[in-house]
Amino acid sequence: MKIAFFSTQPYDKLFFQAHNATFDMELQFFTEPLSAETTGLAQGSDAVCVFVNDKLNAAVIEKLSAIGIRVIALRCAGFNNVDLVAAKQMGLRVCRVPSYSPEAVAEHAVAMILTLNRKTHKAYNRVREQNFSIDGLLGFDIRGKTVGVIGTGNIGRSFCKIMTGFGAEVIAFDLIASRDVEALGVKYLPLVDILDQADIISLHCPLNEQTRHIINDETISMMKDGVMIINTSRGGLVDTRAAIKALKTKKIGYLGIDVYEQEEKLFFHDLSTNIIDDDVISRLMSFPNVLVTAHQGFFTREALDEIAATTLQNVQNLLLSNNLVAQSTLLA
Ligand code: NAI
Repeated sequence: MKIAFFSTQPYDKLFFQAHNATFDMELQFFTEPLSAETTGLAQGSDAVCVFVNDKLNAAVIEKLSAIGIRVIALRCAGFNNVDLVAAKQMGLRVCRVPSYSPEAVAEHAVAMILTLNRKTHKAYNRVREQNFSIDGLLGFDIRGKTVGVIGTGNIGRSFCKIMTGFGAEVIAFDLIASRDVEALGVKYLPLVDILDQADIISLHCPLNEQTRHIINDETISMMKDGVMIINTSRGGLVDTRAAIKALKTKKIGYLGIDVYEQEEKLFFHDLSTNIIDDDVISRLMSFPNVLVTAHQGFFTREALDEIAATTLQNVQNLLLSNNLVAQSTLLA
């Protein structure tokens, strides 16, 4: 059994090779993203393994099918980048890792809140310059504040648990209310009420046609002045231009994003000696109250272990067609 990995980073190789000791598959690693131009690299493989910014549209899937690929394994939870209808039509199986470490992403969202609030990133730089002044670093207590959570699945639930631990009042919006989440003391409300009441809004829903630009001019106008918005889900949930407008008017007081609409050209690459031609991200990064991290929410040792083990098991089971694949990991 042979798997071609696309968009490979050094840590992918490290964790997958370690876990492959129990599977003994042939793994081939490519740094190139998967696209219509790079599908040929997978020639001779049985499966491809892809990540968040590999685009698997109908044309790419057709090419993969033509060279004999039988399985598309996503080494992530989100699957907005795959045309599942096309995969089904062409008989390719698609699997993902639905819940490798919800805590990894939830804890990163909390790290973003604390950094933006208490300005530890600025404090770190000040002290290194022997500037021990704390003027300008004023924050607020999270205890007693209202935190609005959009999407209370695996990650949203873990995030709710942490925020209730802070003593915040947690309110949530989801298409389906979860008893487990309600048991934490979280109150489900309509989206408009979340927007109206929350001091901090954290996004944990998937990107789809219903949620694309869920944060836009209109929804921002319903929020509290100075609201904090955290997005660790998918960049397309936030209309970035609307967010910039609202940062300029101070309607948005803080913005933390681990994902960005146009991230595939930037994130996961060292561009420190390049000229960035994306004026939108450059404008975003110029605000002192904006924190951008490059899609690292998932990036913990525990998560990478789980991703590698589950992905290799999924691929093996699908290639052997032994029906031992958990329904939650199967997309097509
Ligand atoms: P999940 O599937 O367990 O939960 C998603 C929740 O969103 C579900 O409860 C669902 O009912 C809800 N939802 C769906 N449509 C909605 C809508 N229109 N409005 C409100 N809620 C809606 O997914 P999980 O594991 O919690 O992941 C959430 C998202 O986090 C993923 O879709 C992915 O985009 C992102 N993610 C980001 C990572 C990172 O490294 N930054 C890593 C892993 C996931």
